[in-house]
Amino acid sequence: NLTNTELELVNVTASWDEGIGELFEKIKQENKADDPPNGDTGLFFTNLYVTPVLKNIGLYLEKGKMLAVAGSTGSGKSSLLMMILGELVPSEGKIRHSGRISFSPQTSWIMPGTIRDNILFGLAYDEYRYTSVIRACQLEEDLALLPEKDKAPLKEGGVTLSGGQRARIGLARAVYKDADLYLLDSPFTHLDIVTEKEIFERCLCKLMSSKTRVVVTSKLDHLKRADKVLLLHNGMCYFYGSFSDLQAQRPDFSSLLLG
Ligand code: CTP
Repeated sequence: NLTNTELELVNVTASWDEGIGELFEKIKQENKADDPPNGDTGLFFTNLYVTPVLKNIGLYLEKGKMLAVAGSTGSGKSSLLMMILGELVPSEGKIRHSGRISFSPQTSWIMPGTIRDNILFGLAYDEYRYTSVIRACQLEEDLALLPEKDKAPLKEGGVTLSGGQRARIGLARAVYKDADLYLLDSPFTHLDIVTEKEIFERCLCKLMSSKTRVVVTSKLDHLKRADKVLLLHNGMCYFYGSFSDLQAQRPDFSSLLLG
């Protein structure tokens, strides 16, 4: 029953080498090659070996809940979001979600236009919604310092913005958009600890409290506040569940968050 579930992944495996999985399966069948080594979901044929970026991932997220996706660099966090988006097609398993997605990439891009244009991104201006988003993303003070406020034009590539301003505009854009599922890839990059904490509280926890959220973050405070935690390690699920279960079942988990 998917009525209260916004996102479901069932035993999903995917590789960035597009289509190669199928090709290898075909060659394997034709040549009756040996099966992959025990427990390994990689495709094995003579000396060629394709390693999936995500292996046998399963999760479900109820409407209005927050999932934190954690893990060291290269563990597959961004790939997971790309897969939910449909950019990375799984070779095995199923993905189900019920609708419109708003995605904020790890590096947000800026189009030529004003700050406001870059947040609305083609959507209609709604003063209440816009102001709430600006406040929650801590952009109010930045805008107050600019003579033209949010009408200030930005150059392509956003050269007039700091990394943190750029990140917050990217987040504001994703949050302003109305969607059923929000995928936020490392929204706090370039932000200092205080700003990060404020935005996590005000935007991700309060403003978005009724939204279904998948947030890539490895911060302990964020994992504690999330409804579910998925900890990836080399593309595999090291842990999936609540934070208290994570502490109980994987007491050594923090070693995976440092890299
Ligand atoms: N990868 C790839 N092609 C892509 C994206 C990623 O081959 N278009 C590979 C990367 O080279 C990496 C693996 O997929 O080996 C996982 O990358 P990614 O999902 O980006 O890992 P993250 O956990 O998101 O890493 P980070 O925290 O550094 O962003």
